[in-house]
Amino acid sequence: MARKRVTSGMRPTGSIHLGNLLGALNNWVRLQEEYDCFYFIVDWHALTTPGGGGAVGYENVGDLSANVHGMAIDWLSAGLDPEKCSIFVQSHVPEVAELHLLFSMITPLGWLERNPTYKDMVQGYKIESPSLGLLGYPTLQSADILAYKGDFVPVGKDQEAHVNLTRDLGQRFNSLYGKDVFPATKALLTEVPKVPGLDGVDKKMSKSSGNYIATNLSAEETVKKIRTMFTDPVKIRRDDPGHPDGCVVYAFHGIYNKSELETIRSECESGARGCVDCKMQLAGKMNAALEPIRDRRAELEADPVRVREILGAGADRAGAIARETMREVREVMNIPTRENV
Ligand code: TRP
Repeated sequence: MARKRVTSGMRPTGSIHLGNLLGALNNWVRLQEEYDCFYFIVDWHALTTPGGGGAVGYENVGDLSANVHGMAIDWLSAGLDPEKCSIFVQSHVPEVAELHLLFSMITPLGWLERNPTYKDMVQGYKIESPSLGLLGYPTLQSADILAYKGDFVPVGKDQEAHVNLTRDLGQRFNSLYGKDVFPATKALLTEVPKVPGLDGVDKKMSKSSGNYIATNLSAEETVKKIRTMFTDPVKIRRDDPGHPDGCVVYAFHGIYNKSELETIRSECESGARGCVDCKMQLAGKMNAALEPIRDRRAELEADPVRVREILGAGADRAGAIARETMREVREVMNIPTRENV
C-alpha cells in the first residue's frame, strides 16, 4: 500500500532556532522514515504580512530569496534527507496558486473571519489594513496541503485551526463536486519538549521575542547565549541554595542532559553547584548535540549549487503530484480544456 502523505511548511522569516528544531524539525526528521513527506518553504505566506523591522513581508522583499536558501540549509543540516523526503519552495509549484484560486471560490468568508490566527496576526503585527492575502492565509495553506493530498500535517497546537479548516474545505469540495478528490486531512500533534526562552521558564522561545538561540551560531556564540540565560534571582553567591524549577538553565539540562538532572537538582538546591559551572556544563552538552548539525551546515554553505539541486528535485517531484491533482480538480469542476471547449 502507498505510504500516507505528510505535508508541512515554514515561513522563511530568517534563521531557525532551538524551538523550531526541537518543536518541529526533529519530528519532521523522524516522520521521513515512515511517511511520504513533503516539506515546503512557504515564500508566498511570508508575503501575507507587511514586514519591516528587518522582517520579510510584502513591503520588505529584499531578503526573501536569501532567507529561502538559508532555510533550506537549516532544514538539511537538521537532518532532513532529500533521498527520503521532498524539500522544495512553495512558489516553485505554481499549481498551488491555481488551486488556491479555485478554493477561494468555495471558502466561506465567515470561516476566515473567525480564524483565531488571523485576529492574532492583525493584533500581533499591528496591521492597520489587513490584506486579502492575509485573510486568505488558511486557504493558501489548504492548497499547500491538498495539492499533495496530505493525510497528516505535523504542526503545533497554534496551527490546529488551520488544519481543521483544510479538512473542512477538502470535504466541502468533495461534496460539492461529488467525488472524493481530497483526503480528510488531520493535524499530527506530537508531544514535543517545551522550549523556554532565554529570558524565563514561563516564556516561549520565539523569533519575535528575540529570546532564542539560532541553530546557525558557532559553538562560541552558543556559549555566549547560554551565559545570558535567566537563573534563580535569589541565588546570588555560588553556595546559596537555588530553585531549579524557575531556572532556564535547569530546563535546558532537562532537554540536553536528562541523565544528570537529579544530581543537578540536588546540588543546586543544597548550594553545592554554582550557576556559572552549571551553564558551562550545559554548553558542553548542547554544543555536542549541535555539532553534527554544524558539520552538515558547513558542507552545504560551501556548496550552494547542491542546495539548489535539492530544491529543484523536490519541486519536480511535488510538481508532478500537484499537476495530477489539478487535472482531477479541473475535471470535476468542469473547467474547460482546449480540447473540449
Ligand atoms: N502556517 C504555517 C505556520 O505559520 C506555515 C504553513 C504554510 C504550513 N503552509 C502550510 C504548515 C502547510 C503546514 C502545512 O507555521
